[in-house]
Amino acid sequence: MIQQRKNGQINIVLHDQYVDAEKEVSPDPFFTEPFRHIDRKFSSFIGLDHFKRTIKEIYAIKVINEKRIQQGLTCEKQVLHMLFKGNPGTGKTTVARKLAELYFEMNLLSKGHFVEAERADLVGEYIGQTAQKTRALIQKSLGGILFIDEAYSLARGGEKDFGKEAIDTLVAHMENQQHNFVLILAGYPYEMDNFLQLNPGLESRFPFRLEFKDFAIDQLFEIAKQMFLDREYDLTIEAEWKLRSILLQERQKFHNHFSNARFVRNLIEQSIRNQSIRLLCEEKFSPTDLIQITNTDIQIPNNTLKK
Ligand SMILES: Nc1ncnc2c1ncn2[C@@H]1O[C@H](COP(=O)(O)OP(=O)(O)OP(=O)(O)O)[C@@H](O)[C@H]1O
Ligand SMILES: [Mg+2]
Repeated sequence: MIQQRKNGQINIVLHDQYVDAEKEVSPDPFFTEPFRHIDRKFSSFIGLDHFKRTIKEIYAIKVINEKRIQQGLTCEKQVLHMLFKGNPGTGKTTVARKLAELYFEMNLLSKGHFVEAERADLVGEYIGQTAQKTRALIQKSLGGILFIDEAYSLARGGEKDFGKEAIDTLVAHMENQQHNFVLILAGYPYEMDNFLQLNPGLESRFPFRLEFKDFAIDQLFEIAKQMFLDREYDLTIEAEWKLRSILLQERQKFHNHFSNARFVRNLIEQSIRNQSIRLLCEEKFSPTDLIQITNTDIQIPNNTLKK
């Protein structure tokens, strides 16, 4: 309540805003000191808010469990197996690699190495070979992360295919060795959903199921700017506009097949090559020239026309 004196009269003004302004705004707990190292670890990743929050939850549970143990309280060790669903270039592999490092730093994994595998690394050609290959891969992954890309390819050949044996072996070990390694199955959303439907019971064994969403145009633009900056290049205003319009146009054109941040990376690498050619032909070598990317340099990379 505020009193204002106007023309000799006293007016009482009720204004919620004043009351709010006086109140202390409490900070979002996910962005406070205990989580700084996680923010730092993933600082080069634009977006991915849900993923970052999930990792902070895992960290919080880990620390609090240690405190509970000190007090003689019971607590369950976390099972960290994960499912990653997302379109091409949304960061699934890069993020998983970083996660292995972070889990090691957080003492959640004893080695923190990253083993990337695909169907051929697990599935054999004759009876008995698949279980052996899969077991060997798990053995190699102990203390780290086993990342299986395009996981649905394991179910490709149907009931009689050895892929099923690989899935069964994985399931057995993800339970037996649940605290010794982290299994991440990754793939494109539609194919992953089909795969999980065909293998009921699989999804529920993964406590963390994360979706990697397509990036918005602003995020793609930010990723591009960041990538140029990391390589010590700067864009002219015209180059920025051209970049934005290419991103809009390509994302619309390729929709679900658009390769998100990978497209951006290819585009900036192509643009840097174009700039080198231009500078060499024009014999321009001043520091500004060497840094500046102009709109003529910004081009769609030839090798990614389909994505
Ligand atoms: N959030 C992000 N911010 C900045 N760069 C990113 C982000 N996500 C991915 N990238 C970059 O995009 C490129 C492709 O990422 P990555 O290979 O991890 O995607 P992916 O989801 O595994 O793709 P695919 O499904 O095709 O295997 C990498 O260079 C990576 O550094
Ligand atoms: Mg990948």
